[in-house]
Amino acid sequence: MEEKTLLNLFNPKLLEGKTVLITGGATGLGNAMANACASLGANIIIASRNIERLTTAAEEIEQKYSAKVLPVVCDVSKIEDVENLLLKAKEEFGSVDALINNAAGNFISPTENLSTNAFSKIIDIVLKGTINCSLTFGKDWIANNIHGSIINIITTYAFTGSSFVTPSAAAKGGVLALTRSLAVEWGKYGIRHNAIAPGPFPTKGALERLLPGDLAKQFDLKARVPLNRVGRHEELAGLVVYLLSGFADYINGEVICIDGGEWLQGAGQFNELSALPPEVWEQLKKQKPSK
Ligand code: HXC
Ligand code: NAP
Repeated sequence: MEEKTLLNLFNPKLLEGKTVLITGGATGLGNAMANACASLGANIIIASRNIERLTTAAEEIEQKYSAKVLPVVCDVSKIEDVENLLLKAKEEFGSVDALINNAAGNFISPTENLSTNAFSKIIDIVLKGTINCSLTFGKDWIANNIHGSIINIITTYAFTGSSFVTPSAAAKGGVLALTRSLAVEWGKYGIRHNAIAPGPFPTKGALERLLPGDLAKQFDLKARVPLNRVGRHEELAGLVVYLLSGFADYINGEVICIDGGEWLQGAGQFNELSALPPEVWEQLKKQKPSK
């Protein structure tokens, strides 16, 4: 499905007048979200560490759509950078309506091989970075009576945990708890919190870090998914657009998986039996349990 086809679902002015901030919006899934929101009329702020990637992405989006895009260099793990991000955003657009906490860091490793610094690095980007952004923008919204919306991008292993990506699993689990806690606490201010848990959506950032070298050849991402395919970026972007739209104003504190059923396939005790051929099922049917 083409990006355009999916976005034809929505009124082209759906997000007109809204300003959407996407951390990590210069690359991968964040970039798909930025493009989708810009195509529907939103002003966009993208924030991450690498200035070249930011300016290239901002230029590309502005060329494609008649949207305004503000690129801001910001390390979300540093509170002074995030406070500067709020100032820049307000200077350019007056206020921000939606924050998508999408920036992340990850690598694959046996946990016993990790230094405490390596563990902290991921916690600082994913959990502390999300807290820095949510508190900074949330406090501003509360002070100015702005009914903002926060979408936190987590993973399905935030529910289950996962070997070999322990820092990321711990951080994303924390982000899920933050989402649910603030959905209730800040509901009274009209601020909504939701989370999206994507399954496998190939991006350079995720694949190079999580399936480095020959691992990519050995690990068939789609084989783990009941729908037998990976996700398309525009499918995730479409979900983000829906959650930001007025149609989702009553959705608060929710986590939406978009993974083709992947995590449930791993969880159900008998799910592996789908590999059994029909003749084996016929034989099993004839076998009577002993009394
Ligand atoms: C073990 C490692 C390591 C590795 C780094 N370290 N890589 N340890 N295995 N593969 C250790 C270093 O030795 C160091 O510890 C500490 O981590 C910090 O390393 P730095 O090199 O200073 O960090 P930096 O270069 O800033 O890199 C940060 C990063 C990097 C997180 C490691 O990958 C990054 O910037 N990533 C951003 C993008 C990203 O990760 N995207 C993927 C998101 S995908 P010492 O003790 O030596 O100082 C995702 C998907 C999940 O989350 C679900 C998929 C299905
Ligand atoms: P990606 O392209 O590597 O995105 C990560 C982004 O975060 C990059 O733009 C990176 O930019 C930015 N970033 C990293 N550290 C930062 C920091 N300290 N401050 C500010 N920005 C920082 O990977 P992706 O696959 O699109 O991932 C996007 C989100 O989806 C992540 O939250 C990830 O956990 C989640 N996710 C992805 C998948 C998947 O299959 N792709 C599955 C589940 C969940 P800089 O390096 O330039 O700063």
